[in-house]
Amino acid sequence: MSLPASDLTKQPDNLTTMELGACLPLTAEVKDDHLYIGGVDMVDVAKEYGTALYVYDQADLENRMQTYRDAFRSRYENSDVIYASKAFLNKAAARLVAENGLCLDVSGGGELAIAQAVGFPMEKVFVHGNNKTPVELREAIQAGVGRIVIDSRIELARVSEIAGELGVTQDIYMRITPGVEADTHEYIRTGCEDSKFGFTMREDFAFNCVADVLKAPNVRLAGLHMHIGSQIFALHPFDEAIDVIVEFASRIKETYGYEIDDIDVGGGLGIAYTAEDKPASIEDFAEIVTTSMKAACAKYGIKEPRLLCEPGRSLVATAGVTLYTVGILKTLPGIRKYVAVDGGMSDNVRTALYHAEYEPVIANKAGQPRTEIVTVCGKHCESGDAVALDRPIQHPDLGDIVCIFGTGAYCHSMASNYNGQPRPGIVFVKDGEARLVSRRETYADLMACDID
Ligand code: LLP
Repeated sequence: MSLPASDLTKQPDNLTTMELGACLPLTAEVKDDHLYIGGVDMVDVAKEYGTALYVYDQADLENRMQTYRDAFRSRYENSDVIYASKAFLNKAAARLVAENGLCLDVSGGGELAIAQAVGFPMEKVFVHGNNKTPVELREAIQAGVGRIVIDSRIELARVSEIAGELGVTQDIYMRITPGVEADTHEYIRTGCEDSKFGFTMREDFAFNCVADVLKAPNVRLAGLHMHIGSQIFALHPFDEAIDVIVEFASRIKETYGYEIDDIDVGGGLGIAYTAEDKPASIEDFAEIVTTSMKAACAKYGIKEPRLLCEPGRSLVATAGVTLYTVGILKTLPGIRKYVAVDGGMSDNVRTALYHAEYEPVIANKAGQPRTEIVTVCGKHCESGDAVALDRPIQHPDLGDIVCIFGTGAYCHSMASNYNGQPRPGIVFVKDGEARLVSRRETYADLMACDID
C-alpha cells in the first residue's frame, strides 16, 4: 500500500519543540538547542544506545499513574485503575505499575508471564481476550489471577471445567458489548454491535446467558465488563454505555437476586498525537465515569459497585518517544520531501496501519522553528512505511536525530522483525540518569528460535 498523496498546500507551523504542548512528555525541555527528557540529552542517549530507540520519561509514567488513581479514588473511593498492558509491557513497566499500586490487564499468556516474572501480585491481574487458549486459561487460573473476563459461553464452559480440574473457584467478569459507538478509527472500535468481543446485547443474548453464568460450577460472577473503543475524545459514549451496563446489572438483581460487585468500564481515553489534538483530561474522564456510575446506580436502584477502569494509551503513550537517525533525504519537487530514518513500520506500525499522526522534531535542533513539511519514512521494503506523514519539522540534515513524540503506546508492543530488523532497545530516563531496561535485539536473537 502506498502513502496518501501529500497535501502540498500545507504550511509549516514554525513551532519550536516546547510549543508542542500536550504532545510532550512531562519533563521535556530544550537546552542549547537540544531536546532533554528526564534531564537527559536525547542526542547523547541516541549516541550511547544507538537508534532506533524507545525512550520513556519515567516521571511522566509515574505522574499519570498517580493522577489516574487519585482522580478516581478522590471521586469514588471503591475504585481501581487497571493498566492495559497491551499498550506497552516489559519487566520495568510491570514493576512500575506494581509500585504505583495499579492493577494489570493481560491479554495473553505472554503478558501474564512478564507479570509473573516480576512478582506482580496475581490477585491484581485481570485476564482478557476473545479467544484465550485453554492453555492460557489454565496458566492464568493456576497462577491465581484475580479475574478472568469471560467473552463467550464457550469460554465460560472452558474456565468452569479447568477451574474444576484445579479445584478452585475462579472469579470472572462477563464482558458485554453495550452497542455504543465511540467516535474513533473503525479498527480500534470495540463496543459497537458488529464486534468479535464480548456477549452481544442484541436480542437480549447477553442477558439470556446470565443464567448459565450463574449456574456454572467453579466460577463466581464477580462483575461486568465493557470496553467501547480506543483513542476516544468525546466522552459522552461512556455515559451512555455506563447506563446500559448498570441497567444490565439491575436486571440481574431483579431476576436472580444476585448483586454485581464490580463494574469495569474499560479504557479508551484519547491522547494528543498532534499539536492540534485536544483530548479530554484524565480528570475529565474520571469525572464523567464516576458521575455517570453514581447517577445510573441511583436511577436503577442498585448499590454502587467497585468501579474499575482500564486505560492503556493514556497512561503510557505520551511518556514515550522514539529516536532515529536521518540516513537519506529525498525531495520530489511538487510531490513530497522524504526524510528516511533507521527504523519505521517495524518499530511503529501505527502510521502504516491507521495513518496515525505524530509530531516529529529534530532533537539536535529542538529550539528552532519547524520550517519544513516532510514525510518521515522508514527503511523497510514497503511504500507505506512511514512514521510521520506530512508533518512540520526543523530543516533536516543527514545524521540529525529525529524524535517522534507520543510513541509510548502500541509501538513497542506491535513491533516486528520485518526485513530482519532487530527490535529497538528501551531506555527509561529520570533525574538526569538513563537506564537501559530492554536491550536492542541482536542478529542472534533473530535466529534464536531456529533449529539447525
Ligand atoms: N481494555 C480492553 C479490553 C482493550 O481491548 C483495550 C485496548 C484497552 C482496555 C486499552 O485501551 P486504551 O486505553 O489503550 O485505548 N492498536 C491500536 C489500539 C488497540 C486498542 C485495543 N484495546 C492502536 O495502536 O491505536
